Amino acid sequence: MVKAVVAGASGGIGQPLSLLLKANKAITELALYDVVNTPGVAADISHISTPAVVTGYLPKDDGLKNAFTGADIVVIPAGIPRKPGMTRDDLFKINAGIVQGLIEGIAQYCPKAYILVISNPVNSTVPIAAEVLKRAGVFDPKRLFGVTTLDVVRAETFVAGIVGEKDPSKTTIPVIGGHSGETIVPLFSQAKPSVSIPADKLDALVNRVQFGGDEVVKAKDGAGSATLSMAYAGYRFAEKVIKAVNGEKGIVEPSFVYLPGVPGGDAIAKATGCDFFSVPIELGPSGAEKAIDVVSSANDAEKKLLEACYTGLKGNISKGIEFVQNPP
Ligand code: NAD
Ligand code: LMR
Repeated sequence: MVKAVVAGASGGIGQPLSLLLKANKAITELALYDVVNTPGVAADISHISTPAVVTGYLPKDDGLKNAFTGADIVVIPAGIPRKPGMTRDDLFKINAGIVQGLIEGIAQYCPKAYILVISNPVNSTVPIAAEVLKRAGVFDPKRLFGVTTLDVVRAETFVAGIVGEKDPSKTTIPVIGGHSGETIVPLFSQAKPSVSIPADKLDALVNRVQFGGDEVVKAKDGAGSATLSMAYAGYRFAEKVIKAVNGEKGIVEPSFVYLPGVPGGDAIAKATGCDFFSVPIELGPSGAEKAIDVVSSANDAEKKLLEACYTGLKGNISKGIEFVQNPP
């Protein structure tokens, strides 16, 4: 029995993500929560002939409580997206409060749920979530994930285009650090199977992974940011969590977690100086069961990228923690 909740279910990501979750036969209940339009989205999706019973909730009539109660997994794509010229940090002002409110709901109504945070800026919203859960006395670092899978998906796709691999998903590439610009660090030297990237193409490839989000924001020209590729990526991560929780072994995917609370993470936190950081995570019934150190084996060029990552990321993390500890 798996009850999944999408918070922000009526949005550009929320709708296709809810559709993908409805298609997953391991999910028996799917609750769609948003401040608008969920009755319609839920009615539509509920006609699909898969097991999940679909319900839609608005804030009125205890909607948050009814949506979250009994949830095993909550995916959060709630909040405003970027427009051209904005950074992800520009979203903080509005999205920080949205994420805080939703996490307070999780702390109250489903404190044991696996929480997947998509809302930007992920580098700050995940520390906000951790701080809210800590204050409520229900923080389990193994169950809180910042979703950085889109960076992994982009790295797989863009490298396949260069090396001529027909199925991009066949290559595993650790993408680590955070989820914005220079804090995103793809480690192509650790691709499996290994890839041979021409030297004159490497910098542009790294840059494209780091700024892939901007590419979509620019192309959408004011109509938002990545939604469909994000729904795919968010679903890929959620599906892996569900499979791992149901006992499937050997499932690894990078995610932005609170490292000191995940086995193997403490040493990585010390080496990077960042308590929140994305590394490949081995998933299991308790959630994030092991953080895998790929930092110490980065090559010299990647180490240089990592130095820039640490600087930006530390500021983003402190900003999130500060928001909860000393509210503006
Ligand atoms: P959108 O505006 O299309 O949808 C957001 C939805 O959130 C809307 O339906 C809105 O009503 C809802 N919402 C607002 N406040 C809410 C609240 N308090 N409770 C519940 N729902 C609420 O935006 P989108 O394109 O779907 O993007 C959503 C977020 O995801 C943005 O912050 C965006 O930057 C982020 N994002 C993250 C990644 C990633 O890789 N982690 C990728 C793409 C987008
Ligand atoms: C992305 O990487 O596509 C998302 O974080 C959305 C954005 O603002 O770029």
